[in-house]
Amino acid sequence: MQRIVVFTGAGISAESGIRTFRDSGGLWEQYDIREVATPEAFESNPELVISFYNSRRKQVLDAQPNEAHKALARLEDKFSVQVITQNIDDLHERAGSTHVMHLHGEIRKVRSTRFPELVYLINGWEQKKEDLCEKGFPLRPHIVWFGEMVPYMDLAIEHISSADLLMIIGTSLEVWPSAGLIHYASDEIPKFYIDPKAHPVNKIPDLKLISQPAGIAVPELVDQLLQN
Ligand code: APR
Repeated sequence: MQRIVVFTGAGISAESGIRTFRDSGGLWEQYDIREVATPEAFESNPELVISFYNSRRKQVLDAQPNEAHKALARLEDKFSVQVITQNIDDLHERAGSTHVMHLHGEIRKVRSTRFPELVYLINGWEQKKEDLCEKGFPLRPHIVWFGEMVPYMDLAIEHISSADLLMIIGTSLEVWPSAGLIHYASDEIPKFYIDPKAHPVNKIPDLKLISQPAGIAVPELVDQLLQN
């Protein structure tokens, strides 16, 4: 079975109503990364950080997968599909994708500040500051903050280097090390970049740029691949 790797970013969830980070009106225009998305921020002002992620969680729970997420789930009818996402939402899973790797964490989960292996699915939208893990330590959002290690990088590299086709969807490719992953794809395989602001990427000469919203271009590409 042919292996497809799909590397996604905030843009794939934009049409579900979840704001991206760096577009105009994006989240990082409204918030200072250093105040809400770093370990230092959590240490100095946990209330603000928790409330920031509570709002994000509320937004995700209210959102539904869009045509792009759904089309990627359909790809599994014919291909072995690995989604590698920078997104913290669970819209790929809710659309039906069964192999989803979250490089930057998962908004619906919290974990112990002391025992990181203690991870909990949170019921509803609200993490309360006084909630504790089963060993009595405070909880934090299960998010990879700026300055923290990105998990699963080795596994993600393995997936991308053995892919037969790569789709990059809705990402500015500005945040490293995640953005660097696409360079591990073989020179020989077809590569598509779907994003209204899709741009050439250094050292990936045959990248096919599709400058359209994901909700339009992803179902079209998926239909083509399923028909071939
Ligand atoms: N369809 C496809 N792409 C879209 C759409 C759409 N409808 N709308 C916007 N986009 C694109 C934008 O053109 C942009 O290239 O989505 C991209 C969003 O880029 P960013 O906001 O930088 O998001 P992302 O690349 O996912 O950011 C990576 O940065 O701060 C973080 O941790 C956060 O995971 C995130 C990481």
